[in-house]
Amino acid sequence: MTGTLINSGQTASQVDHSEYSSSHSPNEVFFCPEESHFYSQCLEKMVFSRCTQADRVIEFGSGDGSPVIHSLLRTQFKGTVYGYELNSTACQVAQSRIRQYQLGRHYIVRNQCFFEGWQQTDAKCLISNPPYLPAPDNDLYMPSLHGGSDGAVLTRKLLSLGCDQVLSLISAYSNPVETIEHALAQGYQIVDFMIAPLQFGYYSSEAKVKQTIQTLRAARKAFYSSNIYLLAGVLFKQKSYGDIDISKELVQVMTAF
Ligand SMILES: C[S@@+](CC[C@H](N)C(=O)[O-])C[C@H]1O[C@@H](n2cnc3c(N)ncnc32)[C@H](O)[C@@H]1O
Repeated sequence: MTGTLINSGQTASQVDHSEYSSSHSPNEVFFCPEESHFYSQCLEKMVFSRCTQADRVIEFGSGDGSPVIHSLLRTQFKGTVYGYELNSTACQVAQSRIRQYQLGRHYIVRNQCFFEGWQQTDAKCLISNPPYLPAPDNDLYMPSLHGGSDGAVLTRKLLSLGCDQVLSLISAYSNPVETIEHALAQGYQIVDFMIAPLQFGYYSSEAKVKQTIQTLRAARKAFYSSNIYLLAGVLFKQKSYGDIDISKELVQVMTAF
């Protein structure tokens, strides 16, 4: 199904996230259950339910591994996900959870920069909940969540690698329109998306981030209300005759506030 608005009548923060827990500080390991859960739902519906047995998938920024693990447990996906995570503590947590759920044949997470390792895997599909905090520099609660001055620098880089298919989260306060335009210029079309309304949380409420978001809004590069912003899970595919491009619809939704 295309263009699903999930959680209507209920913000993502009101959903039960008891399966996502952490014994680490949020400055040490990324911790936002609402967002990780939404990413997991996007993976389940738009990637793992549609893949074939032989598929290889690469992941930028696995975090503690819980979104992929959660969606693998809910689907029949029999391929392999190769995850890359810079943060050694997060990577250790991910590896321990993979062992706990006996998913070692289907999910391998390496403590390595994604850009150093991704080509070794020969994967056609890239998945990510990438760092998307806009700020002038990475002196933040968690520097590795910095997405460049408009929040979308890493996302655009991921959309420039030439993978056949990319599932990425895109935030409405991180220059969504230019990100979508960049994807189209790279030969992608948008074939599906899901939307979640999120409240500003621990990372996005940091003063430096909030100020940058306000500046971006004045330039029509950030869209949000006083209560929420929209987060989209977007499935990009290289153009083919069979698919319909719904990028215009996504832009309309993302710029609604
Ligand atoms: C927004 S978090 C998402 C974590 C997890 N996928 C989730 O949704 O819960 C982004 C993650 O990307 C990691 N990261 C940032 N730059 C990276 C890089 N160059 N290579 C690999 N991981 C990176 C960060 O450490 C962080 O854990």
